[in-house]
Amino acid sequence: MKLWGGRFKADTDRLVEEYTSSIGFDKRLYKYDIQGSIAHVKMLAKCEIITEQEREQIIAGLEEILAEIESGDFEFQVSLEDIHMNIEQRLTEKIGAVGGKLHTARSRNDQVALDMRLYLREQLEDIQGLVRKLQQVLLKLAEENIDIIMPGYTHLQRAQPIRVAHHLLAYYYKLDRDYQRLSDCYARTNVLPLGAGALAGTTFPIDRQFVAEELGFAEVSQNSLDTVSDRDFVIEFLSSASTLMMHLSRFSEELVLWTAKEFEFVDIDDAFCTGSSIMPQKKNPDVPELIRGKTGRVYGHLMQLLTVMKGLPLAYNKDMQEDKEGLFDTVDTLKGALELFSRMLAKTTFNQQRLESTAEEGFTNATDVADYLVEKGLPFREAHEVVGKTVLYCIEENKKLRDLTMEEWDKFSAVFDEDIYAKITIESSVDARSSVGGPAKKEVLRVIEQEKTKLA
Ligand code: ARG
Repeated sequence: MKLWGGRFKADTDRLVEEYTSSIGFDKRLYKYDIQGSIAHVKMLAKCEIITEQEREQIIAGLEEILAEIESGDFEFQVSLEDIHMNIEQRLTEKIGAVGGKLHTARSRNDQVALDMRLYLREQLEDIQGLVRKLQQVLLKLAEENIDIIMPGYTHLQRAQPIRVAHHLLAYYYKLDRDYQRLSDCYARTNVLPLGAGALAGTTFPIDRQFVAEELGFAEVSQNSLDTVSDRDFVIEFLSSASTLMMHLSRFSEELVLWTAKEFEFVDIDDAFCTGSSIMPQKKNPDVPELIRGKTGRVYGHLMQLLTVMKGLPLAYNKDMQEDKEGLFDTVDTLKGALELFSRMLAKTTFNQQRLESTAEEGFTNATDVADYLVEKGLPFREAHEVVGKTVLYCIEENKKLRDLTMEEWDKFSAVFDEDIYAKITIESSVDARSSVGGPAKKEVLRVIEQEKTKLA
């Protein structure tokens, strides 16, 4: 029998039952549904809407149901549509008519909003923990590789030398902003929706503040119509998740490039690579490739929910049941990516010889030559022109800047002196960039210490 069957004469069409049912995926909310129901009945008893004895019976029943579900003994029924009605029906089966009092002063509309918020709050905590873990791995890796210099790029063309640690810390800060975005999302998720009813609150003398405290919500929502029609908190999470995945995807792309023979900057541990079924020599970076690839589905879930919500009149509409699968998949995808990334990165090694010889090539110290001329009084634009010509000469002569003799330097500017050689080693080039946030060893070490203290 349907919990809402009273008004109906005919049975629901089988296909309609299947089509409208969400139990196949929202059973994942069982724990939060029961947690929310327990807080709700405690409040009903406190407000004398049900008796103490009824409260005890209902809570005992719900706790048994929780145990049944966790031990795999619970039979989910498609005909009961969703997790809320599956649990409520089972409760009445177990404790009799009193089970029917659980849904007093409540609707599935505020109930599902509650379950979603409880679920997301917990997931946000897990995900933020995983972000912090990855940040720790990055700090450790930066510290361990502090002395390795690499070419920094713009347009994927060698630009100026930096430290590997500096490159790693770039991702550290992207993740730090991701962490902050998740904290913002947490604050807006952490608002109690229960008590909004179907759309217009309830006639019962309920105590929403009490429920909020029971469930650890920081606030109680202030407009019932808004509360049951709002999925902003899910959209905000999907948006933060998309940005986070975008960051992991960029990092993945770099790792894929860097493991290619053409770069050979890093080696990803065998445990995180796979082979080819036909080419015996292959060692493929499947993990970063798949993380890069899975970014697409997270973006998809964001677009999907934005599109579901855009035309909905207030308040609840069944369309909103479509908020769940994308959210669950995003949570799983994000957790998997973060976890694997930390583990893979912790075992990734940097090829110092190759990184540094690459940094030596491609005139990555050309800006230093220009800066040298500026220090000696030339306007920067003039210096830029002089060094451009010098570089062109080197390309034609197949030389590095540091190979030029004093006579050769003199051809481009009389200002050049013997002290030019010391200015253009890759170490001096990197360590001269000691402005705040720059790649100089001293500055990078300062940042590592600062962030270690912050995370501790
Ligand atoms: N399964 C529904 C959902 O996830 C629960 C809310 C149903 N409310 C309703 N009025 N049909 O959206």
